Parts: sequence; structure tokens; C-alpha cells
Amino acid sequence: MRFIETWIPATLVSTRDLSPGIREFLIKPDRFDGTAYPVGSHINVSVTIDGQPETRSYSLVGEASPQGYRIAVRRAEDSRGGSRYMWSLQPGARLDITRPASLLAMDWTRDNYCLIAGGIGITPILGAAQALARRGANVSLHYAVRSRTDAAYLDDLNEALGARMVVHAGDEGKRLDLDALFASLPEGTLTLFCGPMGMLDAARHAWIGAGHPLTDLRYETFGSSGTLPTETFRVRLKDAGVELEIPRERSMLDVLNASGFEVISDCKRGECGLCAIDVVAVDGEIDHRDVFFSDHQKESNQKICACVSRARGTITVDTLLRADAV
Ligand code: FES
Repeated sequence: MRFIETWIPATLVSTRDLSPGIREFLIKPDRFDGTAYPVGSHINVSVTIDGQPETRSYSLVGEASPQGYRIAVRRAEDSRGGSRYMWSLQPGARLDITRPASLLAMDWTRDNYCLIAGGIGITPILGAAQALARRGANVSLHYAVRSRTDAAYLDDLNEALGARMVVHAGDEGKRLDLDALFASLPEGTLTLFCGPMGMLDAARHAWIGAGHPLTDLRYETFGSSGTLPTETFRVRLKDAGVELEIPRERSMLDVLNASGFEVISDCKRGECGLCAIDVVAVDGEIDHRDVFFSDHQKESNQKICACVSRARGTITVDTLLRADAV
């Protein structure tokens, strides 16, 4: 079930390769007024995977522009199909997208800001860097990449931040030491983070270890990143006598809804928790890819965010709703 989602027609105006594995897409809605959107905004894009309509969520890059919305898509090796579809598009392609929305609570009143991006996580961070720099805020950015050739938007970041941007390139032996960084930040610093799940876990632990309040670490991650490889798994519906296969290119949420087991959802990015359903048994392992549940809740495996989280093996769930067709 879709919840608060208004789709608008749009055109892919142009594409630009930012690195061998990252392509930028400029998308303009048919009716577009260039209205500013909040920091951390994303749009949903309707994609087609194996002939089936699916939704993918992408952060908007930079601040609002009269040219349209910019997103950047990494061609993921373990793609569930969304990046393959996006990379297949040519300028002029017609798309359905949603209007920008942000779940990132920004506080403009702090004395100090720290921005952290891992890989393609730079996309929402660029707009934050530009907005903070424009306001004259005391801000620094730490951008972790495998190598500089994988980095995107270095020129824009350099223009906004200059020496206040530090690139941590793994192949140059410059690994980002989150413990040391967070220990050096003044009290009351607000940190915005966007990166893969493993890096987020490390950031959360380092942040707490440095004695900062967890509410001062605001983050986003991407639903495609987890601790286990993206692979097919099975979902058994409690008391329904039904077992569903979740292929690697589809989400559990989509398969449940397509099978008549309606699960409400909103962000489809593992952020709002609306799609959480009860887990009754785990024969294998759950890969929690949301940022909604706490570490403790994830360890207990009592609930799973169906939009992004996956599993290895078979899990039994209870959606509390019964399929119309069963
Ligand atoms: S729909 Fe928001 S966490 Fe799944």
C-alpha cells in the first residue's frame, strides 16, 4: 500500500558521468517551479524491473535549481535492479517521480556542524554543505571513498568548503578514524551522516563512545546496503499456509503487497518504521537495513522493516492482515 505518495510526470533532461560508477540524472517535472526543498530531501522514482513496476528512492543532489532535480545513481554490483534500470535510460525518457520530501530534522542554530559521507552518501550531504556554507556556519566535511576516482562532486564541495573538506581515500591509506574525529568535536556539534549501513553502525558506536548525545547524530543510509549479500530468501506467513520467495531484485514489502498481504509504508527507505511487521521465527539470519530500529531492537529480531531489510534462509512473519485471495 502506498501512503502519502503523489506521482508526477517528468522527463529525464540529461545525464552526466561523475565517475566510472556514478551517473548524475537531471529530471524535470512537467510542471516545475524550482521551489526550494529542505536539506536531506529525496524523491521516489518509478522504475521497471523484470517488467514489474517498482519504486526507488534517491536523495536530491545540492540545493534547488531551476533546471530540475538532480539525483546521482551508483551502478551497484549487487543491484536489485534499480540502478541497472536508471543507467539504461537516455535523455528524453519519461518518468514518474514524487515530490521532494525530507525526514532529516535539521537544526540551524548550532555553533558547529560536522558532515560525514561514505561513497554515494555524498548526495544528500552536498546540499547540506552548500546551505551551511552559505549561512557562514562553522562546518567541516569528512568524505570517505575507496579512491579519489570514485569520489563525486569534489569541485562543488571544494567551492563550498575549501580546506574544510577532508577526503579519506582508502587507496591513499587515509582511513576515516571516527573515534578520533568524534572525540575532537566540541560539545553541541550537530553531525549529519550518510553512508552504508556498516559505516553507520561504526559511526553510532563512535558517537556514543565519545559521549555525544545520540540525538545530535542525524543520519541517512541507503536501503541497498546491508551486512549480508543481497540474495533470494523466503518468507512464511504465520497461520496462512503461504510461503513467498523474495527475489534479490524485489523488496519484501513489494512481494507481500503483490500477494495480497497488505503492509502500509511511507518512506521505503528504512527510516519511518511504518512498514515494520512482526517476526515470529528466523531460520537463517535477518539483515536489518533500516535506520529506524535501535541496535537492541535489531538484535531481538522481533520486527523487520519490510521495505529495505532482507534475510538469509526463511523467516516467519505475521502481518496481522490476511491475504484477500487466501
Ligand atoms: S516504509 Fe518507512 S521504514 Fe519502511
